[in-house]
Amino acid sequence: MTRVTVRVPAKVNVQLAVGGVRPDGFHDLANVFLAVGLHDEITVTPADALSLTCSGPDAAHVPLDDTNLAARAARALGARYGREPLVHIHIAKDIPVAGGMAGGSADAAGALLACDALWGTNAPREELLEICAELGSDVPFSLVGGAALGRGRGEILTPLEVGGTFHWVFAVADGGLSTPAVYAECDRLRVASGTGATSEDIPDPEPSPALLEALRTGDAHALAAAVGNDLQAAAVSLRPSLTATLDAGTQGGALAAMVSGSGPTTAFLSANADEAEKVAEALRASGTCRAVRIASGPVPGATLL
Ligand code: C5P
Repeated sequence: MTRVTVRVPAKVNVQLAVGGVRPDGFHDLANVFLAVGLHDEITVTPADALSLTCSGPDAAHVPLDDTNLAARAARALGARYGREPLVHIHIAKDIPVAGGMAGGSADAAGALLACDALWGTNAPREELLEICAELGSDVPFSLVGGAALGRGRGEILTPLEVGGTFHWVFAVADGGLSTPAVYAECDRLRVASGTGATSEDIPDPEPSPALLEALRTGDAHALAAAVGNDLQAAAVSLRPSLTATLDAGTQGGALAAMVSGSGPTTAFLSANADEAEKVAEALRASGTCRAVRIASGPVPGATLL
């Protein structure tokens, strides 16, 4: 094989319940992921050395060195199978960068699956998921897609049944937010409010039964009533301008407005595709964001093209 392309979706967290900080620095989560139809495409070809290129409107903001998760994924698979990662990886990027939509994680899952196919390693699914978890907390979900509950730091997945399609609008903010910085701000706000921030201080995070039921029945209004993101206050604290974006989407008719993951992308749930267009138009007109994207989910995870 001389060339393999994998398509990988973005995600939105419909519930992100954050427990206390653990001794290892991570937070236990009840993280309900939904894969949505914005995709990166990862193409790998044999090369003399590991190298990386990226195209797309945000390409300039993607690091092309060894810190890129796609490169780390190729190295990790190579290391397991005693193989030099001699590949060129091209990322055709459509997922907002550093936006809380798991774009980096998508590229990692895509590169992993693509290298597995290119090299004919045929690693068992369980092993691919293990490598994904080593690469980052959100990477296993990028591989499986659909909808899933993530426990632990988000890497222990249980697939969820979804009874319909949910229509979302995403408002892309200027610049990114660092995930560790948002978690640290969440801890800081908890300490400042007197609750403490460790796993001894904060109750174990649990998925909302109402939210799981809304997903199962495909009921957008019920889902809107149940969504929640414990990182939202921290993201807004670091980026107060997000309040205006959230308000603009709500005034535009969104059923629910929330920060996506650690932000700064904001996510707006709509009743249907027509309503999503209206919300998108209101967000564009508000001038409170850099770009507006419409996407629905669930969609499949990393897929060989
Ligand atoms: O796992 P990942 O590399 O994506 O995590 C990036 C950072 O986000 C971690 O170093 C940690 O600061 C924070 N994080 C966390 N709890 C999680 C997931 C991520 O504190 N469950």
